[in-house]
Amino acid sequence: MSVEDPERNDLLRIPTGIPGLDEMIETGFPFPSVVLVSGTAGTGKTTFALRFLCEGAGRGEQGLYFTTLSEPTHWMLRFSSQFDFMRPEYFDDHIVYEDLGAHLRNGDPDGLLEAIESRIAEVVPQRIVIDPITVVGDMFREGYRQFLFDLTNRLKNWNATTVLTGEVRPGEVYPPEVSYAVDGIILLHLMEEHGARRKYLEVLKMRGTNHLTGRHSIDISRQEGIVVLKARF
Ligand SMILES: Nc1ncnc2c1ncn2[C@@H]1O[C@H](COP(=O)(O)OP(=O)(O)OP(=O)(O)O)[C@@H](O)[C@H]1O
Ligand SMILES: [Mg+2]
Repeated sequence: MSVEDPERNDLLRIPTGIPGLDEMIETGFPFPSVVLVSGTAGTGKTTFALRFLCEGAGRGEQGLYFTTLSEPTHWMLRFSSQFDFMRPEYFDDHIVYEDLGAHLRNGDPDGLLEAIESRIAEVVPQRIVIDPITVVGDMFREGYRQFLFDLTNRLKNWNATTVLTGEVRPGEVYPPEVSYAVDGIILLHLMEEHGARRKYLEVLKMRGTNHLTGRHSIDISRQEGIVVLKARF
């Protein structure tokens, strides 16, 4: 006789679209959830976030990309449109690009939170990115922890999966104040080995998911963006 546990409810998941990663995390990120993608400069955080949004756009889902860097859309597209998975026309409808720079300069955490939520309410996205969230910490030293707590709690109430990117200094693994609040943490590492710099991806935590552990080599290419190489599976 099989006993069914009424508490056990399989989580909904959405694929990241990153080749090799979805197989490591039971087909995708839990939906809804908030996931931190952390790494030092140039490790591929923005490429990861864009791949995640473009995967959704290709499936007819709505995406919302918040930048904290005050970069205009054409600047971001200038670099990212080289990737084969990126279709600039996605940014006409399926991915809304929103600059949070002005709200950051106001130095008002509540105003920033309101701006994020009201845009989410208008766009009704299934996939949200805030890239990079750590800039908020540099701007609002005092209110940052409270802001993160409020932000992640509010994000969890929307029917969406959010990727927050976090920039760390060399030697630092992830921004600790962000890591408390999120459901998943993906680390992008850049390591010096035998005189060469190699890139790795590691799933540090993913709530509700039987995920692979350890560092896995990644490649960044024009065709695919980030690819988790299979050699270590
Ligand atoms: N076409 C490409 N082929 C190979 N590697 C590439 C290509 N395009 C980008 N890269 C790699 O990806 C890195 C940039 O990736 P990305 O902008 O996603 O990183 P990031 O972590 O967001 O960086 P930042 O700290 O500037 O925000 C480059 O430094 C380069 O190493
Ligand atoms: Mg970036």
